[in-house]
Amino acid sequence: MKEKLSAILESARAELEASSDIKSLEDLRVRYLSKKGELTAILKMMGGLSAEERPAMGQLANSVRAEIEQKLSEKTEQLKKELAAQKLKAEKLDVTLPGKDIPVGRAHPLNAVLDEVKEIFLGMGFDVVDGPEVETDHYCFEALNMPKSHPARDTQDTFYINDNVVLRTQTSSVQIRTMEQRKPPIRIISPGRVYRSDAVDATHSPLFHQIEGLVIDKGITLSDLYGTLDLLMKKLYGKDTQIRLRPHHFPYTEPSAEVDLMCFNCGGKGCPMCKNEGYVELLGAGMVHPKVLEGCGIDPEVYSGFAFGIGLERITMGRYGINDMRLLYENDMRFLGQF
Ligand code: DAH
Repeated sequence: MKEKLSAILESARAELEASSDIKSLEDLRVRYLSKKGELTAILKMMGGLSAEERPAMGQLANSVRAEIEQKLSEKTEQLKKELAAQKLKAEKLDVTLPGKDIPVGRAHPLNAVLDEVKEIFLGMGFDVVDGPEVETDHYCFEALNMPKSHPARDTQDTFYINDNVVLRTQTSSVQIRTMEQRKPPIRIISPGRVYRSDAVDATHSPLFHQIEGLVIDKGITLSDLYGTLDLLMKKLYGKDTQIRLRPHHFPYTEPSAEVDLMCFNCGGKGCPMCKNEGYVELLGAGMVHPKVLEGCGIDPEVYSGFAFGIGLERITMGRYGINDMRLLYENDMRFLGQF
């Protein structure tokens, strides 16, 4: 028995010495020390010893066990340390290296300007309302005093889904939808996409954006229209900004005007930037036509109002000095990153 114990100790020492990972140490512990281990097997044989032999053998067996236990834990500690050292070495971090650039997104220039415009109108007590892009002929044209034969339709030659359904050519359709749903006083803007079958160039696109505005109340006059747009443009382009109203024709307003912005570059004298006009055309506007009001059940003898339609692309391009509309749609990050 004594020999067996020393043999166990010898082989345990050798194997412990040779093992180089935590897993094999655990295997050794099971093999030597567990209930089914070799040492336990020997201890079980103690019962067959004489009373004189037993204490000495017991002591020996215990000391063998203690040594194996100690060596196991020493070796485990050592291996853990080595592993940690290796890990530290492998995962060395050089804090002087430049950091990773995490690109942060921002609003597209069209959205940035739209957000500003919304803010300005919200400040004047307007609501922002939405309308459908797929629209009926009625809302897009008929109810705006543009019957089927009206020549004004030609300028908006458009995408028809069938005789009666179109991709809206103007956000003015939302004027009608709003007047049908709300009672005056009405103060809304409605931004959104519009569609026309235009060839793409620096100032045209088959899809672009408008911001419609509509105010209906008692005693609304052209000076309210002027004041509202003047404030909008001063907020967008700076306090020295000047606008002018130029007579025009729209079937759904009377009188109608186009609103021009005095050229920043030459102050109205005329230069290449404004094509020698001194002013740049910005938007269409006017006093809502009595026929349109009547069609929506609003009495033109009691109420009056103004409406306008702004091209979002146009005011964005003016705002940032962008000279080609296509740049706004190409999503080239080198371009968009500048704003
Ligand atoms: N709908 C016009 C267009 O697309 C713009 C416009 C003009 C809107 C006059 C209006 C308005 O509300 O009163 O060119």
